[in-house]
Amino acid sequence: MEKNSNINVSQIMAEIRDSLTLPDKAYFFDTTLRDGEQTPGISFTHEEKKSIAQTLNEMKIDVIEAGFPVTSKGDFEACKSISKLGLNSEVMGLARMAKLDIDKVIEADMDSIHLFIATSDIHLKSKLQMSQEEVIQQIQRHISYAKEHFSTILFSAEDATRSEINYLIRANITAIENGATRINIPDTVGTISPKAFGYMVNKVYKAIPKEIRIAVHCHNDFGLAVANTIAGFENGASEAQTTIMGLGERAGNASFEETAMSLYALYQIPMNIITTKIFPTAKLIESYCGGKIKIGRLQPLIGQNAFAHEAGIHAHAMIRNARTYEPITPQLIGINRSDNVIDIIEQSIKFGKHSGGHALKAKLEDLGINSNEHQFGKIMTHIKEFGDKGHEVSEEDFLAIVKDVMGEIPEEEQHVILEELTVLTGSITPTSTVRLKIRNGDFIEKVASSVGVGAVDASVKAIVKCFKPMSNIKLLNFQLDAITGGTEALGHVTIEILDIESKTIVKTSATHEDIVMCSVLALIKGLNLIAKKIKNID
Ligand code: KIV
Ligand code: ZN
Repeated sequence: MEKNSNINVSQIMAEIRDSLTLPDKAYFFDTTLRDGEQTPGISFTHEEKKSIAQTLNEMKIDVIEAGFPVTSKGDFEACKSISKLGLNSEVMGLARMAKLDIDKVIEADMDSIHLFIATSDIHLKSKLQMSQEEVIQQIQRHISYAKEHFSTILFSAEDATRSEINYLIRANITAIENGATRINIPDTVGTISPKAFGYMVNKVYKAIPKEIRIAVHCHNDFGLAVANTIAGFENGASEAQTTIMGLGERAGNASFEETAMSLYALYQIPMNIITTKIFPTAKLIESYCGGKIKIGRLQPLIGQNAFAHEAGIHAHAMIRNARTYEPITPQLIGINRSDNVIDIIEQSIKFGKHSGGHALKAKLEDLGINSNEHQFGKIMTHIKEFGDKGHEVSEEDFLAIVKDVMGEIPEEEQHVILEELTVLTGSITPTSTVRLKIRNGDFIEKVASSVGVGAVDASVKAIVKCFKPMSNIKLLNFQLDAITGGTEALGHVTIEILDIESKTIVKTSATHEDIVMCSVLALIKGLNLIAKKIKNID
């Protein structure tokens, strides 16, 4: 386990420790290749399965459940290939209580076997159509057979959490007496609460020999898979059956990332895991899911937002000490972010309506931008307005806003000021009316209307008309780009205007969510440049 001095054990956690049955070491059983591949829509290729196994091995996962070899030729071949890789991780194969299943795990040359049979009344009645005694006999017969071939046998009582507790204990003791070396308690349908699951695990823990390792396998139907796994660890379990990204049947299994880091950060339980491989491994598995399952933006630890901050007050504290609002360093799980304060601000502080002056100041300073008070306030206002409209200000949006404000001609030096713009568009001929204030000595007011092929065209023509007495201009180039995707994205217009008389070309740009406003603002900026630089009007 790597050292991380940033985690502070809270006093309360230290106080409750004595009342828990925490293990000396946490083991990880990864079932991404088996339960994870049962995620609807997900199927890994042979090569991907090998690569996943190698990656899990590099991360020092203790046990890799490579597959369920009896289910298909492809699964059998993958199990066989993974067994041949010579990994340090134990490679285990799943089997039902059936000779054919066990023989396939033997044939695939796997290190160990995972045998399961259901123990809940509902499964006995509706699926297996067996009595409790018949299930006990199945356990006796097949575990004894498996024992002839494997020294490590894991037994799972499927749907354990809906099984009668004394019968569950009996099934586990039978498995152990016949050769099982480890047992697993699955919450197959994700139907138990952490408190109840902890109670159940503890009952089993107290009933079986101490040398038998207890695994827990929790499904996420109510979003409790990780919480239940942790509850299992608080009550005698020492192995977590998890999947990368929480892949698995229905709502998935307990996520490996969350389980491992909770055990590590909250309880400091020693483990073999190389935590810095966690994020790269999750990204690899995500890429193998071919876009069908993606890491959620808000997903703990590995989601895009997991180490991102928007609120100004958070940003301010983060500048002083990043640990004020982050429970662990992102580096600990392999997210490469420099610990340099400015990098943190740059890479992680999302600008939006909660952004504060400290974060903005640090960011502008880092970009080498010397804004005056007016410009600083304007940038801040733009960001907040953008955020109030429900947008997140991306890096590109941020830079466009800054560029726009910094490129503005100071109000006292402006010659052309937009007073009003009215646009009529739809199933009529687009018409625009503009009212400008133009300085030529004193300010004079100019109003003009024009029609055009679209709202932008009509507005540009109306402005050109207003400006005509000062200068005859021609729009040479007009380029509209959306800075980020979506209909609410910031638009960026770049234009080139020719002053026909002096044959001078000026180039300007502007940013706004409304493309008509964006175009008009770029044009007004251009006219100001012409008025000042070419016509020398003051
Ligand atoms: O969810 C479950 O019960 C399983 C077993 C095979 C352990 O996946
Ligand atoms: Zn499962």
